[in-house]
Amino acid sequence: MAEVEFPWVLALVALTLITAALLHRAPELVAYECNKALIESLAVAVNVRDRITHAHVARVRIYAAGMGQLLYCSPAELQALHDGAILHDVGKIGIPDHILHKPGQLTPEEFTVMKTHTVLGAQMVEQIGAPLLISVVRSHHERWDGGGYPDALAGEEIPRVARILAVVDCFDAFRSERPYKAAFSEAESLCLLMAGAGKQFDPSLPALFKRHLPEFKVRIASMPAAHFLFLGPEIMPAQAVAAAPATGFAAPSRERLDA
Ligand SMILES: [Fe+2]
Repeated sequence: MAEVEFPWVLALVALTLITAALLHRAPELVAYECNKALIESLAVAVNVRDRITHAHVARVRIYAAGMGQLLYCSPAELQALHDGAILHDVGKIGIPDHILHKPGQLTPEEFTVMKTHTVLGAQMVEQIGAPLLISVVRSHHERWDGGGYPDALAGEEIPRVARILAVVDCFDAFRSERPYKAAFSEAESLCLLMAGAGKQFDPSLPALFKRHLPEFKVRIASMPAAHFLFLGPEIMPAQAVAAAPATGFAAPSRERLDA
């Protein structure tokens, strides 16, 4: 019995000591991690509803970190990119199912509602107290040409972390099958990125991404298999997944890609 209990006692003592040390040295750090963990849980819930996979998040994190390093981003920017990979769409938790799961094109009224996920998400992550992360969440749908949302920022008015996340998240969205579109090939996805340079995206980023994609793919290939689990069917009843509008098939829609 002692052989079984000892590691647990040791672990509990270690956890208590670490927690006490953290609370003594940096209570704001503990609060940050607790808030982030809570909001990440919400983000996972949203991703399940939106049928976003661990693999998508893991790939976006690798692309974002790689681009951040190539652009000499600060540690705070790199942290915002890492956290933003999972949290940028957390505001979708406030979007009604009939809009979030609608196969095919949204009506203008529905798209107006969908666009609010950026502002809702920013309000949620404000609780974490990380300004650059708020920028990622609020501004990941801004466009270089000023035609994005929610603030119609243009060019370098858009925080750099949001410009980076927009490119890498869109590339992986192009490559992924979604309820409203089939997956594009790598070549097609890169063409879409390059076509968006200077319009949707920071003009310098698609070419940089394209140039370094082979090394990003090497990093992705070395990821543990656990990163490629799909959240949905593992924890949702099969009949619910089968019946969900998210499984419908529809023509690719730029409007939905922008959401
Ligand atoms: Fe989004």
